[in-house]
Amino acid sequence: MEPYDPPTGAASTLVTNIGSLVTNDPAFGEGPLGLLTDAALLIDGGCIAWAGPAAKAPSADEQVDAGGRAVIPGFVDSHSHLVFAGDRTAEFNARMSGRPYSAGGIQTTVDATRAASDEHLHGVVERHVREAFRQGTTTLETKSGYGLTVADEARAVSVAAAHTDEVTYLGAHLVPSEFADDPGGYVDLVTGPMLDACAPYARWVDVFCEQGAFDGDQARAVLTAAAARGLVPRVHANQLSYGPGVQLAVELGAASADHCTYLTDADVDALAQGSTVATLLPGSDFSTRSPYPDARRLLDAGATLALSPNCNPGSSYTSSMAFCIALAVREMHMTPDEALWAATAGGARALRRTDVGRLSPGARADLVVLDAPSHVHLAYRPGVPLVSAVRRAGRPCEG
Ligand code: NIG
Repeated sequence: MEPYDPPTGAASTLVTNIGSLVTNDPAFGEGPLGLLTDAALLIDGGCIAWAGPAAKAPSADEQVDAGGRAVIPGFVDSHSHLVFAGDRTAEFNARMSGRPYSAGGIQTTVDATRAASDEHLHGVVERHVREAFRQGTTTLETKSGYGLTVADEARAVSVAAAHTDEVTYLGAHLVPSEFADDPGGYVDLVTGPMLDACAPYARWVDVFCEQGAFDGDQARAVLTAAAARGLVPRVHANQLSYGPGVQLAVELGAASADHCTYLTDADVDALAQGSTVATLLPGSDFSTRSPYPDARRLLDAGATLALSPNCNPGSSYTSSMAFCIALAVREMHMTPDEALWAATAGGARALRRTDVGRLSPGARADLVVLDAPSHVHLAYRPGVPLVSAVRRAGRPCEG
């Protein structure tokens, strides 16, 4: 392949000689991916101004040659937990020797996070955001959830807000050890003073609805209190066992139900009928030796799927969307096209964004150039670093 020649920052840039272009806009190409071959893309003012066959491309201030490579939309990661300190290597080691994953491990990270400085937490978030960008993620949500006091949760959402617009308040991640005998008191804190302190920084509210974390009634109380303050719900649902999370998410019009590993037929029907996206997080199933969610069953029922690495120090310490695409294809029976859509357009749906996750006119010019002739190589060549260049709003992402 010829070398990829990056844009220099001129007002408008025509990327030409694109071997295959995923627009995710069926009006611009074949199938749900809106796939074009021998394509070109015009970037103007940080947005996509035109997409189509190279032979019909308009002129631009500068032209760059993609060398026949594939160009895809930047990945949209709708689920991460990056405001943390410390490390859970020992827990991972124990798990690989047979100990099961449980919600309780979160407390280890809570203790380390409370003890960390603001500067340290900013550094951790920045490092992981850059790591994700280098691997093609151009939009990234991140959550609080390792503070679990009013001051530590407020600090977590304010740190997160310095690095992304997509901030989620997850005060209801675990009942911290000091409230072990008074979980109701902790829910009162999460729905009262902690919400007051966190709401100004967050767009979303999340709750870990699971045995060992929060039950359906507690989750409902948290989500409805935060929704009354303008935060939009998303739910950690049905990760480790069957439970009420998915149904609650759909009932409350949550943007997303995340994990979705243990689903009844009624849960699948609810996701298929409702507007809640099912966000699948195969990195956690890989790292916790859990079953993978049945993506095929959800897709065949008509649910909308997103994929995310779920980067966090406990259940899934990876920021690689490409790895998750490979898992989704190999282990969850998604086609390479379905997995790429879920990692881009699906993530955008889960974040209720229309400006990202696609490469058609009006979208932000977030794109990934792959060192491959097509996006299928993301699953076909697992573990190979295929991301050759990343642009966010038309500009190179600094690594
Ligand atoms: O999405 N399950 C809840 N929260 C995270 C894991 C948090 C942790 O173990 O530190 C998740 O998998």
